[in-house]
Amino acid sequence: MKSTVIIGAQWGDEGKGKIVDYLCKEYDVVVRYQGGNNAGHTVHAGGQVFKLQLMPSGVIRKKRSLIASGVVVDPKVLKKELDTLEKMGLSIGPSLLGVDFRAHVIMPWHLYWDAARESGSHKIGTTGRGIGPVYESKAARWGIRMEDLVNPVQLEAALDKSYPVHAKTLKEIFNVQQLPSKEKTFQEYAELGRQLEPYLCDASQEVDGALDAGKNVLFEGAQGVMLDNNFGTYPYVTSSQPVAGNASASTGVSPKKIKRVETVVKAYTTRVGAGPFPTEIQGNAGETLRDKGKEFGTVTGRPRRVGWLDLTIIRLGNRLNGYDGMHVTKLDILSDLDELPVCTAYQSGGKTYDYFPTRHSVLEKAKPVYETLSGFKDADWNAVCREGKSKGFDALPLQAKKYVAFMEKHAGVPVLSVSVGPNREDIIVRRESEP
Ligand code: GDP
Ligand code: IMO
Ligand code: MG
Repeated sequence: MKSTVIIGAQWGDEGKGKIVDYLCKEYDVVVRYQGGNNAGHTVHAGGQVFKLQLMPSGVIRKKRSLIASGVVVDPKVLKKELDTLEKMGLSIGPSLLGVDFRAHVIMPWHLYWDAARESGSHKIGTTGRGIGPVYESKAARWGIRMEDLVNPVQLEAALDKSYPVHAKTLKEIFNVQQLPSKEKTFQEYAELGRQLEPYLCDASQEVDGALDAGKNVLFEGAQGVMLDNNFGTYPYVTSSQPVAGNASASTGVSPKKIKRVETVVKAYTTRVGAGPFPTEIQGNAGETLRDKGKEFGTVTGRPRRVGWLDLTIIRLGNRLNGYDGMHVTKLDILSDLDELPVCTAYQSGGKTYDYFPTRHSVLEKAKPVYETLSGFKDADWNAVCREGKSKGFDALPLQAKKYVAFMEKHAGVPVLSVSVGPNREDIIVRRESEP
């Protein structure tokens, strides 16, 4: 029995989709445990590019894929994603996908709330998908769950409770007049519920049963450690917890049944939206790296901010999650550069910090301490991939090996694989990720 959590080490978009697709060959079940359609997980497979938002990345290999209770579901987006994948030749029926009946539903007012808040002075650059507001409704105990969506009597009662308050406050505070009427909302969402009902399941019970039966379960995180609502760069974070501990709480399985935690680390750093980013590269150098890495958001198309690798973040993540190993992605993108600065510590107020400063008062004055490594220009990544099958990690150019070894040393975590291109095949396995 294998049970492994895969989480993003930085501010999201590390390549989790690619790594989950690669690893899930050996798993029976893949579970998305938090976030919603703020996520965009890209998988290049068989000449096709899949951009998944709610769908666990296991669907492409036709593994049983579950959306757990901690995920927030926009039923319109889920339906559209099912239709898009169907058109791409991937038909996803209820035997492939299950959605926990407890998952909360993103309603039209959550989108308006998100947009209205972002139009004010506290803009944090959200994806505008209603993620913060739906988690607020959940915590306030007036949210609508998937089980309500598929039951017209429950849906009507839930709308009676929450619609008038949302409509009134949106109108009075933000002058939002366009909210569809309660009756129209009921009709539209009851129909979506009718279409999605066959997918509903108890993911907690199913995952627990699968683990007891000796099956292998992969927990797919969305976003990344630095976007965690508790431990990220608050308030510039998302509204759920990507950290590994939440895979247990949000799926509904005992933490004692989760055996492993692996993280996906981009070989440099990116972030979309506002918030602190001390190793951000300003000017042309940043733009060049952004273009080479195609660093534009999967969900919103926004340009991602680009920066040097920050190993203090990986160290913080290791403390929070207990990494058993790292999957390094996008090493190929660094190969036009002569020198590669890597942040290993911070200096602030005359003190050196070997961890990412968490207090604002320290972080705002903190300066990254860099060590500069030699680049690995002109690497032939096709040859590396070819030879990687037999030689493994030794197929990498010398300086690239040194870069990876430097990551291991300063993060204190072994590297399990190195990814050198977007395709399934563009991966070099260093050590088997067996327990
Ligand atoms: P996720 O949200 O963590 O799944 O990551 P995204 O899919 O949002 O962004 C990662 C992007 O990098 C995607 O477009 C991937 O296809 C691409 N990618 C992943 N690994 C590699 C790699 O090793 N090299 C290159 N060039 N692209 C990669
Ligand atoms: P994946 O799973 C990168 C960012 C947004 C914004 C902040 C809050 O693809 O790695 P939200 O809409 O969640 O309220 O926005 O979080 N964000 C992501 N950035 N990758 C993601 O997901 C993200 N999901 C949210 O840009 O800064
Ligand atoms: Mg993404």
